Amino acid sequence: MIAEKIKALAKQYAPEFIDIRHHLHAHPELSYQEYETSKFVQDKLFELGIPFDIKATTGVIGLIKGRNPNSRVIALRADMDALPIQEENEVPYKSTHDGVMHACGHDVHTTCLLGAAKILNELRNEWEGTIKLIFQPGEEKNPGGASLLIKEGVLDNPAPACIFGLHVHPGLAVGKMSFRAGKVMASADELYITIKGKGGHAASPHLCIDPILIASHLIIALQQVVSRNNDPHNPTVLSITSFKGGETTNVIPNEVKLKGTFRAMDETWRFKAHELIRKMATDLVHSMGGETDLLIDVGYPSVYNNEVLNEIAKEKATAFIGEANVEETEKRMGAEDFGYYSQQIPGCFFRLGVMNKEKGITAGVHTPTFNIDESAIEIGMGMMAWLGSSVKS
Ligand code: NI
Repeated sequence: MIAEKIKALAKQYAPEFIDIRHHLHAHPELSYQEYETSKFVQDKLFELGIPFDIKATTGVIGLIKGRNPNSRVIALRADMDALPIQEENEVPYKSTHDGVMHACGHDVHTTCLLGAAKILNELRNEWEGTIKLIFQPGEEKNPGGASLLIKEGVLDNPAPACIFGLHVHPGLAVGKMSFRAGKVMASADELYITIKGKGGHAASPHLCIDPILIASHLIIALQQVVSRNNDPHNPTVLSITSFKGGETTNVIPNEVKLKGTFRAMDETWRFKAHELIRKMATDLVHSMGGETDLLIDVGYPSVYNNEVLNEIAKEKATAFIGEANVEETEKRMGAEDFGYYSQQIPGCFFRLGVMNKEKGITAGVHTPTFNIDESAIEIGMGMMAWLGSSVKS
């Protein structure tokens, strides 16, 4: 059976791909600057004889054709960028790039997809259709590498019927994977609000328009957007995270700048909420004599796991690593640009366990001590190959 062959190859090739992960981990690159990583992926695909295209400067899109290549097309996605964090792990493959670190496991995702590519390519006479490999730039930073690739036609020619992506999960034990149908991650939009008043002597408030007071009212009023307008069953968050204005005790400043984040899991509600935020900021500030400048920087859409596809992926995982190792993952208000794909075609974004408490591998993603139990790589590359070779579209 193909599953057994994939497992055997994943086991056989794991040491080679752990070395690859070490190389990628030691040479992290920031979003949209993944030049060396992209070149590394291209060289690897070239070595394997897998044809590829370049999109969005550093994105690498490979195609592996099995039997009847037109019968179905499945996309497998990995992200390649790192974060502006100084690594604190003392490991032989520690980041050699000052202030840059693979602290979200994208080195692992890239490695797993390269490993899957090698396996799928070797077994290409044993599965049907075409696999589209998507190595994408810029997952960590707006506008999101996925949105650039989609603009450049990554979901056409050939058009994948569905897409899978995995993400390391430092809260899930190595050996396990976790899945969830429907809403899994939130959209993330950034709020930038400037409130303009009229500054002056703090002892003469009647001669001023106090932007500090107006901003304070607005912060509280904005909480109504979520608490009074949103269906309580619909996860959503509005947080004002920065309040800047004024320097001293006896001066009312001219203006205040607020920043915040708005997150949602329903695209209709999301854009309705933008209107509510805009109207409230404008009307409330006007009613108190001020003026407002409001920018909503629209970020990634929410990640939606197609129910049917998620069920299939879960069944495949159960067959691959056993029922005891397949869990339900929690919803998160974090964002992932996989949302761009999942809003266009059926997608399934699942979690790969990388935690090992005995070995002290428990640090969260986006921290300077994040790391993984590397036995996860064999599972991740095997699972991606197994999904690519066996999911019917
Ligand atoms: Ni990530």
